[in-house]
Amino acid sequence: MWKIAIVGFGNVSQGFLRILKDKKESLKERYNFEYSITAIADPVKGSVMNASGLDVDFLMELFDSEGNLKSHPNRTDLGSIDIIERSEADIIVETTITNLETGEPGLSHIKAALSAKKHVVSTNKGPVSVALPELAKLAKENHVEYLFEGVVLSGTPSINLAKEALAGCDIKKVMGIVNGTTNYILTRMEEGTSYEDALKKAQELGYAEADPTGDVEGWDAAVKAQVLANVIMGHQIKIEDVQRTGITQITQEDIKDAAKRGARIKLIAEVEKTNGTVKASVSPQEIPLSHPLANIMDATNALTFTTDHLGDVTIVGPGAGRVETGQALLTDILAIHRKYCKI
Ligand SMILES: NC(=O)c1ccc[n+]([C@@H]2O[C@H](COP(=O)([O-])OP(=O)(O)OC[C@H]3O[C@@H](n4cnc5c(N)ncnc54)[C@H](OP(=O)(O)O)[C@@H]3O)[C@@H](O)[C@H]2O)c1
Repeated sequence: MWKIAIVGFGNVSQGFLRILKDKKESLKERYNFEYSITAIADPVKGSVMNASGLDVDFLMELFDSEGNLKSHPNRTDLGSIDIIERSEADIIVETTITNLETGEPGLSHIKAALSAKKHVVSTNKGPVSVALPELAKLAKENHVEYLFEGVVLSGTPSINLAKEALAGCDIKKVMGIVNGTTNYILTRMEEGTSYEDALKKAQELGYAEADPTGDVEGWDAAVKAQVLANVIMGHQIKIEDVQRTGITQITQEDIKDAAKRGARIKLIAEVEKTNGTVKASVSPQEIPLSHPLANIMDATNALTFTTDHLGDVTIVGPGAGRVETGQALLTDILAIHRKYCKI
């Protein structure tokens, strides 16, 4: 029986908890995987802890009716780090907000968990971007895993695809559409909507935040390019090393001109290995309509891996969403379950 504690009870971990609840029987039947949730740490929504296991049905009902966990009988005022250390969990699910400058608060959570010999699964891009070598070393020293499939393409396989399914191939290049918001805006612009109106629509639909800088200036895509370079190509680059241009300068004229040339403008994250070095970039590019990436529309994401044995392999799927990103956490947990086979 795996004991799991969740840190940060926002969209993703709510989606993840719903999957665990709905799939409880099938996870046991198919994978012999059993779990109990021993804590949820979230200072604003309310933290709860019970090392013997919380009643997930009751917890979700309470959250659905009250929007927080403050009246839960197992409510605790302990801080997130104390909860990580005292929850008796084997696996910490870290889903707090991404901070690309400091990695906090996730970085401290992950360090505390790994140091206490707890596995970590996370969708938080900040700690991966800021401190992957340090965290990977800490995990290794403590004989536990630090997995983060969901940081690129949410539950659509990307890191696992490259490391597991394409094992043995040399991956020379990865290029793709890794930010749904900008692809949504470019899709609307191609239909004749102005950049401003398309951005407004993306905000209304919840794709773009009130401050859209992270998406439209390419920061979100840049961190994903950095992660792909570090994890798949094995080169430790920093986010500042990713050459970055967003979509704010793209006009409808540019889009029409590209169409005349049989192409579409897409914001492309690209990582390429040449002569032992790795170059990573994010930029709007004209992609010929014959290329699979040209036909990825709306908020969908896609990655094309250029390999020696298979040529180009393209994966297409969602890059965000509660359940979609919760699925990435489940994949990582099942990988830990398979490896450590603890029942
Ligand atoms: N949503 C997606 O589709 C998606 C896809 C891929 C990756 N991600 C990444 O996954 C992570 C979670 O995303 P999300 O959409 O679930 O974000 P979210 O809804 O904003 O959830 C983050 C949660 O973390 C809580 N939190 C903040 N500081 C904390 C602390 N010190 N201790 C414990 N909890 C804390 C927040 O609490 P308050 O809000 O109450 O302050 C919030 O409930 C982010 O890093 C995001 O970049 C998200």
